[in-house]
Amino acid sequence: MPVWVQLGYLVAAVCFIVALKGLSGPGTARRGNLVGAAGAVLASVIVFFERDLDHVVPILIAIAVGTVAGVVGAQRVQMTQMPQLVALFNGVGGGAAALVAVLELHEFVEEAETGVNLTEFDLVATAFTVLIGSVSFAGSLVTFAKLQELMTTRPVVFPGLAVAFGGCLLAGLVLSVVVVVEPALWIGVLLGVLGLTLGALLVLPVGGADVPIVISLLNASTGLAVAASGYILGNTLLLVAGTLVGASGTLLTRMMAAAMGRSLTNTLFGALKGGSTLGAGAVSDRPVRSAGPDDVAILLGYANRVIIVPGYGLAVAQAQHSLRELVDVLGERGIQVDYAIHPVAGRMPGHMNVLLAEAQVPYEQLKEMDEINGDFKQTDVVLVVGANDVVNPAAKTTPGAPIYGMPILNVDQAEQVVFMKRSMRPGFAGIENELLFDPKTTLLFGDAKQTMSKLLNAVKTL
Ligand code: TAP
Repeated sequence: MPVWVQLGYLVAAVCFIVALKGLSGPGTARRGNLVGAAGAVLASVIVFFERDLDHVVPILIAIAVGTVAGVVGAQRVQMTQMPQLVALFNGVGGGAAALVAVLELHEFVEEAETGVNLTEFDLVATAFTVLIGSVSFAGSLVTFAKLQELMTTRPVVFPGLAVAFGGCLLAGLVLSVVVVVEPALWIGVLLGVLGLTLGALLVLPVGGADVPIVISLLNASTGLAVAASGYILGNTLLLVAGTLVGASGTLLTRMMAAAMGRSLTNTLFGALKGGSTLGAGAVSDRPVRSAGPDDVAILLGYANRVIIVPGYGLAVAQAQHSLRELVDVLGERGIQVDYAIHPVAGRMPGHMNVLLAEAQVPYEQLKEMDEINGDFKQTDVVLVVGANDVVNPAAKTTPGAPIYGMPILNVDQAEQVVFMKRSMRPGFAGIENELLFDPKTTLLFGDAKQTMSKLLNAVKTL
């Protein structure tokens, strides 16, 4: 490999590392993303000039199709649909790695026929890439279908699922050994098909609320498959990039599972044990206390300490701009206001941070759950805007509830709680929230965008 290529790859690898560092904070995430993209472009350009490529025209057409699909997809997607987009992109990455490995296997077999000695490690890496890449591809497609509600978000379980999964896993391992001992293209293809089945069987029993953890896990496995394909192709940069994705994806999976109070085994296999991972979705007709924007404005306008809890409904309503204005007006009245950010509020990691950053909310007003949970006891009013599960005390009090064990924001400890939501429908986990019926709770019904501007006007006229 010429020195300029090695140097170019080194620069691209450094870009990826700097990008990851940037992505770890809301203030630097945008720049991090751009640095990572620049590294990827650099790497792609180097590949073009590094060697004499065959099939340049089909490659350019494939790049053009991929670019158009990526740009149009990313521009059209609503922010609330971002997790499914990530799932789809991730799946395509895993599928591509598996296809590359099958083609390399084909070449290995041809080389072996001409007397070239194959190293066993090449074949191990090939079998690994085919299996894991196709698991990632099929698993990601099923998570996409669940999140896009193209299929039920409830766990899909059928008799014999555990046996079918175990059987496929065993067969996958056996075929991987056969690829190494007796390499043949058809065995590689069969291994890929088994991987696809395994991926679907892995994700089907996972309930909707746990799907983000699985996306992150599949993301990590795609990274490992890409790293292995880098080894097969002798491409150092793929090896580095894949390892970075694998490592960061594994860490993210662990952090998300901890934030949701679930073990990974419970997330993946909980439904197989018979326990539901999604609630019944019933709507209660028990009485609640509701009020209009004027009453809530008085409650807020005469408080000393207010905490805002944003959730998924804030993103749906796109009420973040009027919310920021409301907080500014309360601040001008000398009221101390902070935002309490739950790690899984919304539908993707960092969802609330991104949403509020878009409305130019200063980062110092955003307080992580552990940082603010002790403050609720001294808080006069908590304004819950389109959040539900992340403040549901069932996570502490109801063993068997789908969110049981998830750390929540201690909103129930505040003096007064106001919920802004449209109805009595439950949140993502599909279970009732006892806090809605608490005597200290007031409900301000309506779409958060409309009620927020009414509330803002009412506070301004106090
Ligand atoms: P949820 O529990 O889903 O509650 C959202 C609330 O917003 C609902 O009560 C809904 O009530 C209300 N809402 C929806 N649209 C609204 C609108 N236009 N105006 C006003 N209110 C509106 O949200 P959460 O508290 O943020 O919890 C997140 C949940 O999603 C957790 O269960 C989490 O595990 C799961 N999850 C998280 C992620 C990540 S990584 N963040 C990814 C996928 C799933 P109405 O329908 O009555 O309005």
